[in-house]
Amino acid sequence: IPVDPFDLVIFGGTGDLARRKILPGLFRRFCAGQIPENSRIIAAARSEMDDDGYRDLAREAIEEFGRKKGRDKKAVKAFLKHLYYVPVDAKGEGGWKQLKERLRDDDDVVRAFYFSVGPSLFSDLAEGLQVNGLSHRDVRIVVEKPFGHDLESARELNEELAKHFHEDQIYRIDHYLGKETVQNLMAVRFGNMLFEPLWNAQYVDHIQITVSETVGVGGRGSYYDNAGAMRDMVQNHLMQLLCLIAMEPPARFEADAVRDEKLKVIRALDPVDPDQIVRGQYTSDGQMPSYREDAENPTSKTESYIALKCYISNWRWANTPFYLRTGKRLNAQASEIAVVFKDAPHSIFGIDAGRHRNVLSIRLQPNEGMTLGVTIKEPGPGGMRLVDVPLDMSFAEALGPEAEEAADAYERLIMDVIRGNQTLFMRGDEVEAAWAWTDPLIEGWERRGDSPKPYDAGSGGPDDAAFLINRDGRRWRRIQT
Ligand code: BG6
Repeated sequence: IPVDPFDLVIFGGTGDLARRKILPGLFRRFCAGQIPENSRIIAAARSEMDDDGYRDLAREAIEEFGRKKGRDKKAVKAFLKHLYYVPVDAKGEGGWKQLKERLRDDDDVVRAFYFSVGPSLFSDLAEGLQVNGLSHRDVRIVVEKPFGHDLESARELNEELAKHFHEDQIYRIDHYLGKETVQNLMAVRFGNMLFEPLWNAQYVDHIQITVSETVGVGGRGSYYDNAGAMRDMVQNHLMQLLCLIAMEPPARFEADAVRDEKLKVIRALDPVDPDQIVRGQYTSDGQMPSYREDAENPTSKTESYIALKCYISNWRWANTPFYLRTGKRLNAQASEIAVVFKDAPHSIFGIDAGRHRNVLSIRLQPNEGMTLGVTIKEPGPGGMRLVDVPLDMSFAEALGPEAEEAADAYERLIMDVIRGNQTLFMRGDEVEAAWAWTDPLIEGWERRGDSPKPYDAGSGGPDDAAFLINRDGRRWRRIQT
């Protein structure tokens, strides 16, 4: 889908996210021919620097964090011509006039401001844009997570932004929604006849959502220690996955139709009993540092791991458990959603045939793809013995090299901003509803003074997480990397 020419301003343009994701992502879109000839990417940050200085920074970022094409020097050089830099003081007056001069006052040029900064600057930037006359027309702003720390702060942020922008101008990023497989989840659910009739409490035994990371929190401990896995991952990424798995079919693949359905899921979530939540914190395995060392807080009670069981009280999902788990410094870097179907009501093959269940596994990363486990006869003359085999679809294999070079989450979402498509962005009420569900859980363990359970760095997480699901007669799926 073609993109209109644009002026994209990246506040925080020298920061980590800009270097790791935004610039390499925009470069890949450039290589894909999606950055129109006269578009401008204008970085704004506190440091004093000129356009050439910024172009050097961007070149290094693309070489370090870009994929194969990052080595194509000619393409990089052509891309860098689109880049500019303006020093701007978000809280003061400096630089705004120069920024305005860099922007084109032309209704055919889309204007977007990416707030790639901490939320404490959101309202200053929103106000700065308005008082300096930069937001007088159909501008869009993109805001990063964390969107608040709890319901109250999220409400305040929403109110601050609403003073200067309409909801349809605000793009709240959750980069999980930009992941290829996450969008494919909707395609599979709503583009096929096969799954949707079975997608409910009658046929589904339970659902597991796993986001397992091997990285620790070293380097960002000061943010993370105030957040923990619940705020950093569950309130946003895992809840978004839960919504897409559980929502009713929207009437159209359009922003409000999709977001209305997601909101209904969040609002139908039951509160979670404290004994259905397991929090963990990694300890040193002798080589890797402990969480407390990484966070530089020797008495921290923040969780780097969380597993919980929750229910969605609606007609479709009543009494179907959703097991969620995520953690840092685990033994695998992999994310998966697994829909585990119920046993067949009667086995005509007798009890020796064992228990066989269909599982649809949706792999977010790595090896993006889906696998449907089906039961067949074991080949050979040994009689009717059953065996489970995977119907495997790896996207890279099925779709060829194009899938490998597919856009990553950030670049896809930035292009959606330019196209004015909010479908994969969170609406204000959705974010607030998510906090309204997580706040009481967090308050509960803070009030009780619970400490997270220790688990070894590089392990599979705390033992209690296994008990959480085993006592229901179920098991966590083995995470394949
Ligand atoms: C971020 C979290 O939002 O998502 C990080 O703040 C986490 O803690 C990251 O590591 C995971 O993203 P991805 O795309 O690597 O799975």
